[in-house]
Amino acid sequence: MSVKTMETQEVIELLEKVAGFDRPAGNDRVKTIIHRVMHDVFQIIEDLDITPEEFWSAVYYINELGKNGEAALLAPGLGMDKYLDIRMDAEDEQAGLAGGTPRTIEGPLYVAGAPMSEGFARLDDGTDTGAEVMLLKGVVTDENNRPLANAIVDVWHADSKGAYSYFDPSQSEYNLRRRIKTDAEGRYLAQSIIPSGYGCPPEGSTQALLTQLGRHGQRPAHIHFFISAPGHKHLTTQINLAGDKYTYDDFAFATRDELVVEARPVTHSAQGERHGVTGPVTEVEFNIQLVSTDRQDRQAMHQRQRVMA
Ligand code: DHB
Ligand code: FE
Repeated sequence: MSVKTMETQEVIELLEKVAGFDRPAGNDRVKTIIHRVMHDVFQIIEDLDITPEEFWSAVYYINELGKNGEAALLAPGLGMDKYLDIRMDAEDEQAGLAGGTPRTIEGPLYVAGAPMSEGFARLDDGTDTGAEVMLLKGVVTDENNRPLANAIVDVWHADSKGAYSYFDPSQSEYNLRRRIKTDAEGRYLAQSIIPSGYGCPPEGSTQALLTQLGRHGQRPAHIHFFISAPGHKHLTTQINLAGDKYTYDDFAFATRDELVVEARPVTHSAQGERHGVTGPVTEVEFNIQLVSTDRQDRQAMHQRQRVMA
């Protein structure tokens, strides 16, 4: 069966009524968006000859997705977060604000309000005793490589099982989440543990759809960052550790070549010892370059629903 009804007066009028075009009340922006979304959904049903069975399975899939709280997990898996990044990169290019360390997706697992430290912070609570000790370090500079003192490096990552505090209630409050203010030389230093990669809940709605696509739901070991400094563009980014099976096969499409960082085991770190970190550690170095701007809207991060915000 392949019928064409999209061009009929009946469907055109139906879409206008669906979007509330015939009523003065409501929000014009929402009306415009919903009209377009529903037009395109109808068009997909027509073009792909979607059966009622397929349609209703999609409806109940969305119900399950919401019940599992996974809509913001599915979005990166379907490339939507990456697509928004591609658009923001293009907008930066157009506004003359390109350059510096590249952005990549925030993901759904940030928690606002992590404790603030000056120069150095220990991120882990010491309970993950099997984990490899990590020394994460770097310098924040402007585009002329001048160090930026008092920049805020807000860092968060998973534990050795790939789980994030807050979302994993067995972890202590703000475990593996800290804000570090850079010192006079623009440096930040963190003691933590090497994270493991993250996997979508295996029985969840996101994995169920990915399986239908023949895809996995894995991310490589990675560390998230928000970096901000007055007079500079806010940066949301991550590093992916080199050598992970998924470094270049991230289900969330967050990998960028400039953001792949080597983890280097050393027997001794002078910098670490100054903060009581003795013995072998694995060093991860991530230097960050921010782009200067007067625009307040670019100095702030975009709004979205965030835990504890
Ligand atoms: C997802 C998980 C992450 O840790 C992340 O950084 C990005 C996305 C997710 O589950 O979709
Ligand atoms: Fe993550």
